Amino acid sequence: MSKIAILGLGTVGTGVAKVVAENSRQIERRLGEPLSVKAILVRHFQEGPWRQLMTDDFDKIEQDQEIRVVVETIGGVGAAYEYTKRALSAGKHVVTANKQLVAEKGCELLELARRKNVNYLFEASVGGGIPVLHPMTQCLSANRIDEVYGILNGTTNYILTRMVRTGSFFSDALREAQAKGYAEADPSADVNGTDAGRKICILADLAFGRQVRPEDVPLEGISRLSLRDVKVAGRAGYRIKLLGRAIRLSGGGRTAYVAPHLVPEDHPLANVEDVYNAVMVRGNATGEVMFYGKGAGELPTASACVSDVIEALEHNGRREDIGWTEDPEGFVDPLEVQTRFYFRIEGSLTDAALAFGQVEVLSEDGETGFLTERISGHEARELSRNLNVLACLRVLG
Ligand code: HSE
Repeated sequence: MSKIAILGLGTVGTGVAKVVAENSRQIERRLGEPLSVKAILVRHFQEGPWRQLMTDDFDKIEQDQEIRVVVETIGGVGAAYEYTKRALSAGKHVVTANKQLVAEKGCELLELARRKNVNYLFEASVGGGIPVLHPMTQCLSANRIDEVYGILNGTTNYILTRMVRTGSFFSDALREAQAKGYAEADPSADVNGTDAGRKICILADLAFGRQVRPEDVPLEGISRLSLRDVKVAGRAGYRIKLLGRAIRLSGGGRTAYVAPHLVPEDHPLANVEDVYNAVMVRGNATGEVMFYGKGAGELPTASACVSDVIEALEHNGRREDIGWTEDPEGFVDPLEVQTRFYFRIEGSLTDAALAFGQVEVLSEDGETGFLTERISGHEARELSRNLNVLACLRVLG
């Protein structure tokens, strides 16, 4: 019998306990022995099916030799960081969905795991139930990864979908996403792009082999997005999606950012809706590969955690193929990247053309919506400085 402990009993922790119980036969077939949850660390005891497993004493879990894997679902970098270090130091594998901890301290924790000859696995930290980190680091390992981008936050994608499909108000759609267990404890992390920012850091770390620090990654969320832009873009054949992007630049640099983009309707990301996420990985041999599935929620996220538990227990020794160096050298401001921009200005087409030269007009009704040629973010700022800008978004492609 293999035994694990779960730290935290929120959405993901509960999902892990459920998947271990409900899929026990299948997991046993795979492991060759039953898997069971021996302890669940909680701050407050609650009634329910796991009442007998609950403890508020991490020491007991740390010292319990039978517990081979700790699944950390506390979130954040406080207690989660402390307990992860202690569990790894005690020779236990640690599995997590905690993207903040992986994005900020992943390098250090992977090094500690290496020294202790155990695994620190975090497939669930990006894309919820979608297998993306394993395929990127294993199946695509023959490639130089040149770009990773995609819809990395289920809550904001759900909100955008509701706004477009049913004209829901932002606040109503957010409440629905919270009720479904998609949103972070503090949903501003979803809405302002912080959550997607942590995920793009993890993808960039693994894709490029060097740390991308969350504090270096510019974030723009969806709170300032107006339904007007959604409509103008829609009529012109674009959907607005919040994307995280990590790009290897010619010359050896790399960059990453999160921002809403106009996505052409015929691009595969345009039809990724509701809580679904999709990650595009561009390898120099494969071209683009797309990973698609549910990016948040109890059971999808738990599925990735429990698969990591199985992998940790199955593996004789450690996975050597995940990791990156801590050196953040070579990170370039994403404003250097050239792309087309969508602007909506309080002004005429003549004002737009005077500032940008050739533009493609999307709407003219007192305000003007238009697309620029490919320019850098610096140029977009500079050329628009005398305009009354109501909206400015990048265009994908
Ligand atoms: N709040 C996150 C999301 C959960 O909505 O995508 C999954 O990381």
